[in-house]
Amino acid sequence: MIGRDASVGFIGAGVLGNGLALALSQRGYRVVGASSRRLDSARALADRVPGCHAFDTGQILADAVEVVFITTPDSAIAEVAGSIHWRPGQSVVHCCGAASIDILAPAESMGARTGAFHPFQTFAGLDTPEEAVGRLAGVTFAVHGADFLADYLTRLAEDLGGRSITIADRDRPLYHASAVMACGYLVALLRAAAELWEEIGFTSDEAVQALYPLARATLENVGRSGLVGASTGPVVRGDTETLHGHLEALFRRLPELMPLYADLVRASLPLGARRGVGPDGLLAIEELVDHYSGVG
Ligand SMILES: NC(=O)c1ccc[n+]([C@@H]2O[C@H](COP(=O)([O-])OP(=O)(O)OC[C@H]3O[C@@H](n4cnc5c(N)ncnc54)[C@H](OP(=O)(O)O)[C@@H]3O)[C@@H](O)[C@H]2O)c1
Repeated sequence: MIGRDASVGFIGAGVLGNGLALALSQRGYRVVGASSRRLDSARALADRVPGCHAFDTGQILADAVEVVFITTPDSAIAEVAGSIHWRPGQSVVHCCGAASIDILAPAESMGARTGAFHPFQTFAGLDTPEEAVGRLAGVTFAVHGADFLADYLTRLAEDLGGRSITIADRDRPLYHASAVMACGYLVALLRAAAELWEEIGFTSDEAVQALYPLARATLENVGRSGLVGASTGPVVRGDTETLHGHLEALFRRLPELMPLYADLVRASLPLGARRGVGPDGLLAIEELVDHYSGVG
């Protein structure tokens, strides 16, 4: 068993390392050390967390603590794991969403317990670790761990105000793709929506000013009413006339956006069905969009 009083350290003092270290410390975990590529980064983290010290190297940190979180960029995790001499019984955890715990194989081969603790959340665009702490509440964490490390990480997720789930290794790429669809690709979708405003003659900033309150309210509706309840627009109303207008305008003025718009119409069809659009209505929409996809 790993208790809440186990000593914890972080290798990689970036946005997540800082936020997680601070959040764990605030919840009574013993965060005693940090190391990073640059000592200044480790010092900045240590200065924020009472009782935490900056260590010159990952090895010295690993020698000093029971649970090590590797919070470097994904591309450096395997290299860091392979560069340290781990102790049997020690716990080593990465926070990457896409990779399994296999990237910690060097630590496992030396007898360490290996695990993953991935917050299904974005910490992009934050100015301070305090803001990262705020973003941890209510988050879903994908937890993976050998023997009682999983119990420790599950409790940790709950202590952070979140919930834990387990994702099988083979499902991890799908799990991570979902995160990217709801985060990075959401931005890509809004960029495409902004392009329509630019075609009308507004700037991208003006577009964002208009799009952000709409998108935010839509996400609030998703949280409040679920996907079906929050769905709006011509597809879920079975309104082929309005759809026809959209498709015709895109065809004439922004044909490069036609495939994206057509795919979004198709992705909306199951929601239309759930909102009561009948088979004939759905078929009419499909035919319309297929026609314009072919023409575009
Ligand atoms: N950011 C997110 O939204 C988010 C969300 C979920 C999960 N994650 C996961 O969290 C982990 C950390 O991501 P992040 O966004 O916090 O990254 P980040 O802000 O780029 O910070 C990573 C830190 O690691 C340090 N570093 C780089 N290479 C290193 C090495 N070889 N050895 C030791 N330290 C090294 C760098 O510190 P220096 O300042 O010393 O150069 C950098 O500040 C990743 O696995 C990522 O997938 C991130």
